[in-house]
Amino acid sequence: MPLRGKSRLRQNALAAFLHAIPLALVLATPSTASGQQRAATPSGIAPNAAACHDPAGWNIACLRARYSGPAAGWPAPTIDAGVQWHEWAPVPPVADPPMQWTAANPGQAELAADVARPPVVALGQMLFFDTRLSRKGQISCASCHQPQRAFTDGLPLAVGEDKLMGRRRSTPLYAAPFAPRLFWDGRAASLKEQVMGPLHDPREMNHDAAGAVARLRETDIYPARFLDAFGGATAASSPATGSASSTVAPASSAAGSTASASASASASASASASASAAMIPTAQAPAASTTASAIDADRLARALAAYVASLRPEKTRFDEFLAGRADALDDNELLGLHLFRTQARCMNCHNGPLLTDHQFHNIGLSFYGRRNQDLGRYEATRDPADLGRFRTPSLRNVAQAGPWMHNGLFPDLRGLLRMYNAGMGRDAPPADPPDPYAPRKSEHIKPLDLSPAEIDALLAFLKTL
Ligand code: HEC
Ligand code: HEC
Repeated sequence: MPLRGKSRLRQNALAAFLHAIPLALVLATPSTASGQQRAATPSGIAPNAAACHDPAGWNIACLRARYSGPAAGWPAPTIDAGVQWHEWAPVPPVADPPMQWTAANPGQAELAADVARPPVVALGQMLFFDTRLSRKGQISCASCHQPQRAFTDGLPLAVGEDKLMGRRRSTPLYAAPFAPRLFWDGRAASLKEQVMGPLHDPREMNHDAAGAVARLRETDIYPARFLDAFGGATAASSPATGSASSTVAPASSAAGSTASASASASASASASASASAAMIPTAQAPAASTTASAIDADRLARALAAYVASLRPEKTRFDEFLAGRADALDDNELLGLHLFRTQARCMNCHNGPLLTDHQFHNIGLSFYGRRNQDLGRYEATRDPADLGRFRTPSLRNVAQAGPWMHNGLFPDLRGLLRMYNAGMGRDAPPADPPDPYAPRKSEHIKPLDLSPAEIDALLAFLKTL
């Protein structure tokens, strides 16, 4: 997918790369994006986007009228044949767990119960912000997943303990409670499976579960917190360090959540369920070792997973608009919303309550054959159909989440929108003999023919999310 004009860029020169982007985009787009030189009056737009558009330009009063009621009555979005999509909707509250948490999925039933118990979520939150989880105590989960940045870190590529740099950007965490598969490439199937990942990763927290558990057991605060959250000694409890890791599945969950979890209406019901599930030993053991052995790696993973599962995006004017307050968006933002759903084709992938389909797509950012190549989902599945595919990120609170994309390629959203407008990068030209590994861009990514004013409107809309 060569992004034209960038072939000499190297990952180890990313800063220079990022500075070069706005210029590179301008240079890259003349043939496909003539619309950028046009005034704000588009021509040749798709028929259903033409509603409310006449030779004088966009008729905002008409748009206001068409988007005045509930979403069911809005103009139909531009969706390609065969795409399963869901209408935008409020993000389900913590007390109303998503479908994939239900009993149909046994592991997730435990998560659903944990999320409904404030002591578990509060413990997960403490752990999420605690640098003691990393080997040298330098970083916590929150170093890379900062609440005020939609749980990202503002860096193109994550930086772990001892400043070791990872190869991808820290993911925003708002989609994590709802995603059937986690990470940019979907290699983890559950939050609990995911949480131990960062703990072990030498480029992240550089630790191991037994070491982290031993350290938590020595603290003044955690033994009592684990006891409070999960009850007495763990099934495989041993007085000291060793056994903890044996109880852990390859788990790495992410747990982060704003204070939302405590609001769960079902807290009391699940709290009693959990109390009966935990075997609380009777009093013959010395209190200190009983409380210390309430900590093990499985519970550490559960608490972190519960915190992450309780995270919800900050509510914005977009939510007010969805709730029927038509004046929550100004004219430009409303036009951006309309374009997002129609001519700009974004709804093909950024749909549903989180503005993601939770699917994997190749939008042309795999840098195939270059030093910073990342083949995404293919690296987890080795299925050629997955070459260059990444998971669609949630766009909730997206303006706070930059730099954007799996590799932090775009330092500003306008540049990103210009790139979408140009149809993203080009695929590698057909080779002779054909290269079976050359990633192919999604058929849903096409040049959009948006004018600069329309790109401004889209940008204004993204900032309301
Ligand atoms: C050094 C920075 C760093 C630290 C520390 C870190 N993460 Fe991450 N996190 C990342 C990166 C980078 C990704 C994306 C990796 C990928 O997709 O390959 C990620 C992805 C995730 C995801 C997946 C989200 C999704 O929707 O796919 C979750 C959940 C998560 N982290 C939770 C945690 C938790 C919990 C901790 C602490 C135990 C933690 N992270 C520590 C950088 C970090
Ligand atoms: C074919 C599906 C698809 C379509 C259509 C699509 N996107 Fe995306 N979008 C993705 C995927 C996949 C990613 C992540 C790609 C990566 O990191 O390599 C992404 C990433 C983004 C990001 C970066 C978010 C972040 O946190 O890094 C933004 C912003 C975005 N898209 C906005 C849009 C807008 C605006 C449109 C319409 C102009 C659009 N997208 C159309 C699939 C799509």
